[in-house]
Amino acid sequence: MQSCHIVNEPSPGTTPPHKRRKRYSGRHPRRFEDKYKEHGGDPETIAKVMDSGKTPSGTHRPIMVAEVLQALAPKPGETAVDCTLGHGGHAEKILAQILPGGKLIGLDVDPVELPKTEARLRGLGFQQDALSVHRSNFAGLPQILAAENVPGADVILADLGVSSMQIDNPARGFSVKFEGPLDMRMNPQRGQPASAWLEKITPDALTEMLVSFSDEPRAAQLGPALAGNKFASTRELADAIGAVLPQLDDEELSLTIRRVFQAVRIAVNDELAALDAFLRNLPLCLNAGGRVAVLTFHSGEDRRVKKSFEANFSNGIYADIAREVTRPTPEEQRANRRSAPAKLRWAVKAA
Ligand SMILES: C[S@@+](CC[C@H](N)C(=O)[O-])C[C@H]1O[C@@H](n2cnc3c(N)ncnc32)[C@H](O)[C@@H]1O
Repeated sequence: MQSCHIVNEPSPGTTPPHKRRKRYSGRHPRRFEDKYKEHGGDPETIAKVMDSGKTPSGTHRPIMVAEVLQALAPKPGETAVDCTLGHGGHAEKILAQILPGGKLIGLDVDPVELPKTEARLRGLGFQQDALSVHRSNFAGLPQILAAENVPGADVILADLGVSSMQIDNPARGFSVKFEGPLDMRMNPQRGQPASAWLEKITPDALTEMLVSFSDEPRAAQLGPALAGNKFASTRELADAIGAVLPQLDDEELSLTIRRVFQAVRIAVNDELAALDAFLRNLPLCLNAGGRVAVLTFHSGEDRRVKKSFEANFSNGIYADIAREVTRPTPEEQRANRRSAPAKLRWAVKAA
């Protein structure tokens, strides 16, 4: 697939000048290596990055920590599961409340980031008796609890989607901000990269996924134009989206690119099937009186969580559920831009 140059739309009644639109460059294009310097540990640079509402490279800022802890109410001696360990930010806070005597089981599918997070948490002093780490999909939570010889958990957290470490690493191919191979797999050792997936998908299936996974209003144009093509890099896919929709201004194009990337990522990682399995298994995995909190980042996820919690509240499995979603405060949204789309729901299993 060639990199696309976008021809501006002609104004009616004039001969169109053959203007070339410059390649989509992202809002703050920077070389990843430069950005990564923040990660070198200079506290002043890191503080500046955080003050501007961004996330320092190689880290992840946990979202709605106070609200999550209030919903989960972890107590000393309890068993907790963090289904999406990520950088371990939420896990660290939960561990502080279940110790002494408690244990946190941490899961993540990512073989690249998980060992780093485990090393970070061990470095903070959490040893095997307090923290056990598994590279596993949370769809398999019942099997993990069985392997741990734990009949059920008192506290379960799932903070869905991708971590900042994954998004910001161009080699993972999640973001258009830095050019990288079009991969998008949370576990690069399994399944097929987004490039291969897009090459095989039919126009109708892609159109449908663009609607149901990211509410894309221009799915009907994008699906047939993108499906079946070979895009080797994130940049090639972004350029192709721009070529299909030359009338969009940079702001709208950037939003469209993000929606397409989100839909492809959800499909490549089969994220909604994992969420459905997790929600189905939850009642089996929670102890009586156990609490679960789920952070979602788009309407397709939130609808599923809401429906499952409401159904299990009506049938008496859950004694209480969140009636409304909790959103990050405006202060948190300003301090951490990536928190903006988050929605929190919780449920309590009947005693
Ligand atoms: C938003 S991050 C979690 C951040 C974490 N709460 C923290 O404080 O650092 C989501 C993480 O969940 C992982 N993940 C996504 N889907 C998963 C699944 N089905 N099973 C296990 N891990 C998953 C991703 O690899 C990523 O590391």
